[in-house]
Amino acid sequence: MADLKLIAGGTVVNATGALEADVVIDGEQIAAVLAPNSELTAALTSGNADIIDGRGHYVVPGGVDVHVHLQLPMSPEATSSDSFETGTIAAAWGGTTTLIDFAGQIHGSSVHDAIEERLGEADGQCAIDYGLHLSMGDVHEQSLEDMHTAINDGITSFKLFMAYPGAWYSDDGQILRAMQVASEQGALVMMHAENGIAIDVLRDQAVARGQTGSVWHGRTRPAALEGEASHRAIQLATVAGAPLYIVHLSAADALEQVVWARDRGQNVFAETCPQYLYLSLEEHLDQEGQAGVRHICSPPLRARSDGHQDTLWTGLRTDDLSVVSTDHCPFCDAEKRLGIDDFRQTPNGLGAIEHRMDLLHQGVVQGELSLPRWVDVCATTPARLFGLQGRKGVIAPGADADVVLYDPSITHTLGATDHHMNIDYSVWEGTTVTGQAQTVISRGEYVIKDRTFVGRSGHGQYLKRAIPEPLR
Ligand code: URP
Ligand code: ZN
Ligand code: ZN
Repeated sequence: MADLKLIAGGTVVNATGALEADVVIDGEQIAAVLAPNSELTAALTSGNADIIDGRGHYVVPGGVDVHVHLQLPMSPEATSSDSFETGTIAAAWGGTTTLIDFAGQIHGSSVHDAIEERLGEADGQCAIDYGLHLSMGDVHEQSLEDMHTAINDGITSFKLFMAYPGAWYSDDGQILRAMQVASEQGALVMMHAENGIAIDVLRDQAVARGQTGSVWHGRTRPAALEGEASHRAIQLATVAGAPLYIVHLSAADALEQVVWARDRGQNVFAETCPQYLYLSLEEHLDQEGQAGVRHICSPPLRARSDGHQDTLWTGLRTDDLSVVSTDHCPFCDAEKRLGIDDFRQTPNGLGAIEHRMDLLHQGVVQGELSLPRWVDVCATTPARLFGLQGRKGVIAPGADADVVLYDPSITHTLGATDHHMNIDYSVWEGTTVTGQAQTVISRGEYVIKDRTFVGRSGHGQYLKRAIPEPLR
């Protein structure tokens, strides 16, 4: 007997719109989307299918978070605190069913070893499906050659860094060469666009003046240097004829450059993250001691007085920003404390993997986004841009049965007592949102059922990703 599930009576929301429909799941895939009360629905109801009551719920594709860092060793003293196990479970609690993390080729190491190591760390640990990008920290003849092998392994996107000199930084020549390979192969270059050389000068000058508190992390990474780096990345991509995806865009200055490129028809895309939409330099980063360092991430939280947050919401509405990911890279208080006397020593990153869908649904509640646009930026477009089109991010026959029953009427408050992320505080403490994932299905298996975790580590499979077709 086939493993059939019928989700009946819900409102199916895709990026293209919302409609009342019943969803049939056969094994690991969606088999049909049926008109309500059809004869087929009646036949299934009287058969052996597992009937799920969708009334009062949105039936949405599982979220696709294309930028996370699980168990990432940031320094000898600080590794991001969610493992592949805890991070994928927390993601599922929030309605995300696909993650893309990074294999990191650090200076002096090989691409092959980086990929093998990361695949080994994730193998058998994940509760939901996952893929990998490659972070390139050492661009040279061999690593450029190895981009071809990575693509054959299903790693079709490559992150490069204009920031972090002495660690992950690539100069413009290295970036251009990697973009040329990406262009030949149809792969996607992801760019951390901040001018790290100039930032390092500003950081050292601030510390020499005794300005060591967390707010100086933000003040020494000005929005203008994110705008400048974004423009340079766009022009290098123009010369290479390569598509470009700017990660964790935080500043209006950078968005202006993306708008300029898109308006002239260039394949330039950008993601932002919930922290850049909701949190700010004045309210969160500019706090004394532990409260301040908890909010250190790069790019930094931006000044609300300069209007960055409002501009980013507008960018999401107008499709100048294509994706919302989390850049989930959390550290517990003990690690964040490393920078209490010198912001430069703080491991960079915040945690949001569990809350992305809710925080963006809150954008729908507040009138910032339409319901289909919520699904688009959280699931459909990230799947399409990263080679998972048709398989993830859509409720349609033939797609993987990654389905979330989302109750739009439940109001709840985010915080460390209730979250499932392995972090001993929450940068979202006290934030009230309306809407919550109730049941989460990954490739036909329940992971969360009626707000109870019923999944298992090891269910999640590695996703060999295709070349992102729409970019070719
Ligand atoms: O602060 C951040 N974003 N940490 C993660 C590393 C990165 O640059 O994405
Ligand atoms: Zn980055
Ligand atoms: Zn990141």
